[in-house]
Amino acid sequence: MHVEILVGTMTGNAQLVAQELELGFGDEDTLITVTPMDDLGPEVFRRDAVFLVCTSTYGHGDVPDNARELFEALQARRPDLSAVRYGVIALGDSTFADTFAHGGLRFDQLLAELGARRIGERATIDSAGSELPEEAAVAWMRGWLEQARAAAVEA
Ligand SMILES: Cc1cc2nc3c(=O)[nH]c(=O)nc-3n(C[C@H](O)[C@H](O)[C@H](O)COP(=O)(O)O)c2cc1C
Repeated sequence: MHVEILVGTMTGNAQLVAQELELGFGDEDTLITVTPMDDLGPEVFRRDAVFLVCTSTYGHGDVPDNARELFEALQARRPDLSAVRYGVIALGDSTFADTFAHGGLRFDQLLAELGARRIGERATIDSAGSELPEEAAVAWMRGWLEQARAAAVEA
């Protein structure tokens, strides 16, 4: 199975999370690649992979700058993503109570609108919490990968 992690980040937390997942879970059965969202277009979703959108939140619950082009192109072009399976790791800071982790939530809603099917529940990671973001992500990833493998067998 190939899991392609698409990273939306401003100050590197989401990138660090993605790299920890690549190091911790990549093996002979599971290829994990980390791709920053910079300069990606909707065509990325044609790749033969399960996608893991790993993104932080800025502004008023917006996606980070390096994810904006991809997000807006998906909104404008509305490709049919019904063949796509994905998961979401949404990073944020719970002191932004009204927009907590909305960057990942927005991607989740948009991908679902375009027909893509989410695997498992969204991971919501709080950089104001006591746990390190990468540790929280590793704990969540074990269960998510099992569900992704089960979905790959179904397909
Ligand atoms: C200017 C600024 C605005 C932010 N706005 C939000 C927000 O609206 N909601 C939220 O949950 N987190 C918000 N955050 C927190 C970041 O999403 C959080 O620190 C995240 O871990 C950053 O990850 P990154 O280094 O991958 O960009 C904001 C942070 C900054 C510096």
